[in-house]
Amino acid sequence: MSATSAPGGSGKNAPTAEFVRSLPKAELHLHIEGTLEPEMLLALGRRNGVALRCSTAEECRAQYHFDDLQDFLDLYFEGVRVLVGEQDFRDLTTAYLDRVAADGARHVEVFFDPQSHVTRGVPFADVVAGIAGGLRDGEKEHGISWRLIMCFLRDRPVAEAMEMLDLALDHRDVITGVGLDSAELGHPPADFAEVYERARAAGLVAVAHAGEEGPPEYIAEALEVLGVRRIDHGVAAVGDPALQRLLAARGIALTMCPLSNRALQVTPDLSRHPLKELLDAGVLVTINSDDPAYFGGYLLENYLAAQRALGLSRADLVRLARNSLTASLLPEARKAELVAELERVATRD
Ligand code: ADE
Ligand code: ZN
Repeated sequence: MSATSAPGGSGKNAPTAEFVRSLPKAELHLHIEGTLEPEMLLALGRRNGVALRCSTAEECRAQYHFDDLQDFLDLYFEGVRVLVGEQDFRDLTTAYLDRVAADGARHVEVFFDPQSHVTRGVPFADVVAGIAGGLRDGEKEHGISWRLIMCFLRDRPVAEAMEMLDLALDHRDVITGVGLDSAELGHPPADFAEVYERARAAGLVAVAHAGEEGPPEYIAEALEVLGVRRIDHGVAAVGDPALQRLLAARGIALTMCPLSNRALQVTPDLSRHPLKELLDAGVLVTINSDDPAYFGGYLLENYLAAQRALGLSRADLVRLARNSLTASLLPEARKAELVAELERVATRD
């Protein structure tokens, strides 16, 4: 039996990185601003005359130790200040697609945080043009399809989110959906009920971060009040069997991010991460990278870190990859093609 065909999930019989890389898969939870590697941070800082607190990539990386989500967000929002012109956003996006192509991604659904740019005076249209330009470049270069999802910062005023929605409606050709991110505790999903209602009425798809640091009630609220079709993170579902049954019955995906959860002390010990338990409970769990430049790994490394920590089997990894395709916003026919390809690859040897 070859190493890649082992049924078990640990030791020398563990599925290999090459096997996981070869599986067609989608990344569904990725903040483009969270792909800003220190080298690019420094280069754009120089290009745009933005002063930074570190002057070498090593110095920047040495700051990447976080007590919690807020501690990370402080650094993340400091970093985005180097993104000023359309070309900066395009370079950032192109670099991400080059990187995730090497991990075997075939489709990506990318978040961006317009408020973190517009409030600094960067025109909304420049942000969108830069990111969409990079996504199109990546599609041409690597054959990766994409969707773009605009996130509202939940710790900023609801009126500001409404303004972003107004701006987004002029870019319906590239913006497919809305999400909710930033500091979760004390900012329940229901605060954004009206914004989401308008977004959905305009035909935008709804997703939201919930149950990252917040309680399971925020997950239920995002489903019932915001009408989301996926939950980003959803770690808190682990303590709530009734909620798990609801998620499983409705086919609501959780876009989980193991390395992020470790880095932000949500699940400091990855061997205790709930993704395997939730997968076994029938929830549509997916693996993603969140803010890979800050959390120590892109898509493939998230699969491998989860595999190592939780002893995931080859069948678990195939299921996670299949879930990522199923839970994507791709048309059903394209999903079916990719799933068929996945089954061929998974049974190859
Ligand atoms: N923005 C970027 N990364 C985030 C995360 N992990 N949670 C909430 N907001 C974010
Ligand atoms: Zn996120």
